[in-house]
Amino acid sequence: MHSNSDDLTPQQHWLQERLSSALARFDDRTPLIYRKPIEIEQGATDWIGGWGATSLFLAGPIGVGKTHTAWQTCRRWLEAAYAPGGNWQGSPVIKTYRSTTLFDALIAEFDSGQRTLVDELQRADLVFIDDLAAAKPSAWTQERLYEIFDERYINRRPVIVTCDVLPNALSDVTGPRVASRLAEMCRGSVLLMDGDDRRKQVAA
Ligand SMILES: Nc1ncnc2c1ncn2[C@@H]1O[C@H](COP(=O)(O)OP(=O)(O)OP(=O)(O)O)[C@@H](O)[C@H]1O
Ligand SMILES: [Mg+2]
Repeated sequence: MHSNSDDLTPQQHWLQERLSSALARFDDRTPLIYRKPIEIEQGATDWIGGWGATSLFLAGPIGVGKTHTAWQTCRRWLEAAYAPGGNWQGSPVIKTYRSTTLFDALIAEFDSGQRTLVDELQRADLVFIDDLAAAKPSAWTQERLYEIFDERYINRRPVIVTCDVLPNALSDVTGPRVASRLAEMCRGSVLLMDGDDRRKQVAA
């Protein structure tokens, strides 16, 4: 890490500018409480180091820090994408959705006769879906989820999912085809977060 920007070559300087503006844009759309830097679990750091070769599944009970970890993992993944010596081409696109908002948006978009959202979520470099088992989508929405996950699965594009159940218990929510793909996508990167509800600590 350079302490003085005068030491940087023009190319390093340009990369640093790109990184700063990408991080500023990401921070702008990060919910306020999840902007706070936290120490993330080793499994999440390892996942970033593996360059998103698999997907990442953060599971655990209420309030252990799944969503905060996921936002900060996305941010560090973005940071890694712009690291000097990296071979990332272009600007990485990260799409982030709470599951219930996503399900509503898919239906609203269908009603308006468009289909951009499915395409965007198929192609984004990284997709983060928060609280995947929060609500059971309709059979129609499960089909859209299948289109999204299958395209990402066959192209090895990573997803970060937070959830209060494990991938093998997701079938009822997402439908069996999405659950099966997700189980393979996240193999080796299922992070079980344990502990007390941190919100109780905050309130104490
Ligand atoms: N590593 C951490 N250090 C400090 N505070 C944290 C950490 N992780 C999470 N928190 C804080 O703990 C609270 C709960 O975190 P978070 O919302 O991520 O939990 P969650 O597991 O997603 O909960 P839920 O299952 O209800 O969605 C938040 O206030 C969050 O900012
Ligand atoms: Mg959460």
